[in-house]
Amino acid sequence: MSSASEQKANAAIAALDYVEDGMTVGLGSGSTSALFVQALGQLVREEGLKIQGVPTSADTEAIARDSGVPLVPVEHVAKIDVAVDGADEVDGRFRLIKGGGGCLLREKIIADSADLMVVMVDETKLVARLGAFPLPVEVDPFGFTLTARKVYEALRRAGVARPDVQLRRLGDGLDPFITDGGNYILDCACTEIPDPDLAAAELIDLPGVVEHGLFIDLARIVIVGEDDGARVMEL
Ligand code: 5RP
Repeated sequence: MSSASEQKANAAIAALDYVEDGMTVGLGSGSTSALFVQALGQLVREEGLKIQGVPTSADTEAIARDSGVPLVPVEHVAKIDVAVDGADEVDGRFRLIKGGGGCLLREKIIADSADLMVVMVDETKLVARLGAFPLPVEVDPFGFTLTARKVYEALRRAGVARPDVQLRRLGDGLDPFITDGGNYILDCACTEIPDPDLAAAELIDLPGVVEHGLFIDLARIVIVGEDDGARVMEL
């Protein structure tokens, strides 16, 4: 296993500490979340842990089913105790870029509805400033070229010097990537986002933007996987 995969696995195991009997658990998406869901399933199967999971993507739902994690439809939950998810970047104020896997809308709905958001990352995800990872912005397919222009202008207003806004496509093909919610993703290469709070406010105001991948004031715990364990950071 590469160091990053090992660190993700260690972070996922450490995140189990935040799950208790009787909880409703938001299940994030991506490779680190997949490891967490598999480990959670093992606790359910082998130790009788009683929880119900709310998946944030069709992929996570399939992994949870395979792993034996009981699921509940999101419409049936009154509250979520803890949301456990990965991230593409984390800064010193626990602001995140998410959506590398294209699940940002559902991930944000669940994180925002949870009493606690726990984020699991390998060490490469910790950054001094957000923006080296292209910021995903989920948009309605209708008029997306017009929306892309507005996204560019909003990022410029937020101080990004030369944003490069590209429609996410499937593999090497021309077909657009479609999210579980039926939307498109605009990946915005920014190099650096000088004011993530301002960028978030500018983007969410745009008609056509369904959600953006800046997660601000949501994560309270960040678990950083290391080669031989994990360290927990609290805000
Ligand atoms: C998916 C996400 C993921 O949490 C993020 O991309 C991190 O993925 P990974 O755990 O595979 O590194 O936001 O939309």
